[in-house]
Amino acid sequence: MKVSFLGAGAIGAMFGALLRESRSDLQVRLVVRGVFGDELMRNQCVEIVGPWGQKKVSMGCSSNCNDIAGSDFVFVTVKSQDTQSMLEDAASYLGNATVISIQNGINDTAYADFVPHDRLVMGMTSTNMAVTKPGQVSMQLNGVTMFGGPNGNQANQASRRVATLFQGIRVPGLHFALHENILGIRYNKLAINALGYASCLSNSNFINEAIGAKHWRRDIGLPIVRECRSVLKQASIQIERIPGRSDLSRLEKLMHLMEIPLLGQIIRMAIHSRFERNPIVFSLLQDLRRGKKTEVDSINGQFVKLAKRIGCEAPINDTIVSLTHELEGKPNPKFIAHEEIIRRLHRETTP
Ligand SMILES: NC(=O)c1ccc[n+]([C@@H]2O[C@H](COP(=O)([O-])OP(=O)(O)OC[C@H]3O[C@@H](n4cnc5c(N)ncnc54)[C@H](OP(=O)(O)O)[C@@H]3O)[C@@H](O)[C@H]2O)c1
Repeated sequence: MKVSFLGAGAIGAMFGALLRESRSDLQVRLVVRGVFGDELMRNQCVEIVGPWGQKKVSMGCSSNCNDIAGSDFVFVTVKSQDTQSMLEDAASYLGNATVISIQNGINDTAYADFVPHDRLVMGMTSTNMAVTKPGQVSMQLNGVTMFGGPNGNQANQASRRVATLFQGIRVPGLHFALHENILGIRYNKLAINALGYASCLSNSNFINEAIGAKHWRRDIGLPIVRECRSVLKQASIQIERIPGRSDLSRLEKLMHLMEIPLLGQIIRMAIHSRFERNPIVFSLLQDLRRGKKTEVDSINGQFVKLAKRIGCEAPINDTIVSLTHELEGKPNPKFIAHEEIIRRLHRETTP
C-alpha cells in the first residue's frame, strides 16, 4: 500500500513517519520543499522527537509530485493558502487515491475540481507538531485526530478507510477516530484559533498575557467568541466538542469566571505557573516571527467569508485579518499593543 503527503512540514512529516513505523508493508512518500525539505531529501529520512525519544524513520522524500503516482492515500498538509497550487501541481498524479486534508480552514470547495466527493476526506488534528530544525519534527502535544466527509456530510466510506489506516499507530495519547459531524469539530477548532490568532498580533502568551489580561479578555477575546458563535448560529452550524480538549465553550466560561473577583485571581495564579513555562504558540505567531505569509484568511477570514455568504457581517474577525496583513511578510514585525487593537476594533465596529 502506498501513502503520500503533499507539503510535508510539521504535520505531514510526523504523521508520515508514524504511519511508516506502524506498518512494514507501507510505502510512504513525502513531497517537500525549502530548507526543511532539502534536509529530508538529502537523508531520505525524517527525525521524529516525542515520548518515544528521538528516532530516524526512512522513507522516500522528494520535491516532485510525480512521486505520488499510484498512491492509495494522498494527504494534503500544506497551509490552507497553498492548497490550490499544491493540488494543481499534483492533479495529474492523484489517480484513484483517497485524498485527505489535514489542515485548519474550511477549504472543501478548493478540492472539488480535483477530487470526487466520495474519495475526499476532511480531517482535524488537535495535536501540536513543530519543525524543530531542518529534517526534524517534534510532537509538542498529543491528542485526537478526526476524519469525516466533506461539505458537512456524515463520515463516508473513504473516511472509514482512513481511520482504519491509522489504527496501527501505538503512541500513548495519540488517537484517531471518525466523526459524523466533522464540520462542527473543525469549526470549533477554527473559532479557538480565531481567538488565539488575535493574541498573536501582540506577540502575547495566549493564556497568561491575553486571556489573563482583563482588557484583552473583555474587549478582544469575548467579542471574538460572541461574533464566531453568532455567525455559526446564523449559518445553522452546530459546533462539536473536541474530545480531550478545551473547546470554545470552556474558554468562554473560563473568561467569564476570571471576571469574578477572588475566583478570577485564583484561576490566574493557577494558569500562570502552567503556561509561563509551556506557552501555547500558535503557528500564526511562528509565521509572523519568520516574516512569512500566514493562514489568517482561512481562520478569522473564514468567519468573514461565512458571514458574507449568509448575509451578515463579522467585523471583529475582519479587523483581526487586516491587522495581521499589516504585520505579515516583514523581517521584524512591529507587534501591536493590546490598547491599539482595542482602539482599531472600536473604530471598525462602531457605526
Ligand atoms: N503544526 C501543527 O501542530 C498543526 C496542528 C493542527 C493543525 N495544523 C494545520 O495543518 C496544516 C499544516 O500545518 P504544518 O504546521 O504542518 O505546516 P508547515 O510546517 O508549514 O508544513 C507545510 C509544508 O508544506 C510546504 N509546501 C507548501 N506548498 C508546497 C508545494 N507546492 N510543494 C511542496 N511543499 C509545499 C511548506 O513549505 P514552505 O514552508 O516553504 O511554505 C511547508 O514545508 C495547516 O493548515 C495547519 O494550520 C497544524
